[in-house]
Amino acid sequence: MMGKVSKFAPVMKTIKEVLYDCQAAKTAVLATNFYNYETLVCVARAAQAVGAPVMLQLTRSSIDYMGLHTAYKMGRQVIEDYGLQGYIHLDHGPSLELVQRCLDEGFDSVMIDASEKPFAENVETSAKAVEMARPYGANVEAELGYVAKLGQEQGGGFTTPEQAVEFVGATGVDALAVSIGSAHGFYKLPPHLDIPRLAAIHAATPVALVLHGSSGIPHDQVREAIANGIVKVNLATEIKDNFMRALKKVLSESDEIDLRKVFPKAMEPVVELLKEKYEVTGAKVK
Ligand code: 13P
Ligand code: ZN
Repeated sequence: MMGKVSKFAPVMKTIKEVLYDCQAAKTAVLATNFYNYETLVCVARAAQAVGAPVMLQLTRSSIDYMGLHTAYKMGRQVIEDYGLQGYIHLDHGPSLELVQRCLDEGFDSVMIDASEKPFAENVETSAKAVEMARPYGANVEAELGYVAKLGQEQGGGFTTPEQAVEFVGATGVDALAVSIGSAHGFYKLPPHLDIPRLAAIHAATPVALVLHGSSGIPHDQVREAIANGIVKVNLATEIKDNFMRALKKVLSESDEIDLRKVFPKAMEPVVELLKEKYEVTGAKVK
């Protein structure tokens, strides 16, 4: 399929093409959530420094906070200004209505998350999202199995290869978030990814596999997951945590009220964190 044509980057690969490339190269795209101008720029600086493509993720909460149009335009403008190979993605889309608004806005990729619904309803909703996204050429991600959300109990509800095959066949999704032992937010129990399960899912279906909840997973486990089929690694909590910890420290050490001097200090550790994460995931601009 032809890449997208823009005034600034003559031919940019679609995110679907990038994820296929990652499957062949056994690398992954780091998909990072952003919450404001500062966290967005941290991602841009780190990606620029290491030559990685960026996948900028917005959840419903971030969209509600910044406004869909503002958040989208900010993301696009930063991608352009930093000369990045970049894509904008709806993370954990809770409704087809929000999926439609994001498609109309120009998102490259959308996630519909009906993973807490019964299997048949998840299939039906995800298939609708695929149908809606087709005219836009957008990538569609869905979730199958239980990946604990913030405040939920960790563990259980793992994705099976059989269900994954049936789900992908019935919906036509491009990417699938799987439950293999990860959870969102901070881990209460040390995470142990079920790599044999992941390998079996990957052997059973060509769909692009997504690891949610990567904050707090040791680098060697993330690398092993990528070696066994993960092509998109989602990172959020560690970005917020690093930024807020550093911000609190800066604020506690001075009475500076010029936020243009305060925020950059809180951004430094986030840029360093992200550079490290980009080295682990490994995808490079092509
Ligand atoms: P963490 O917040 O645990 O890094 O998870 C990110 C995520 O999965 C976003 O969809
Ligand atoms: Zn997630």
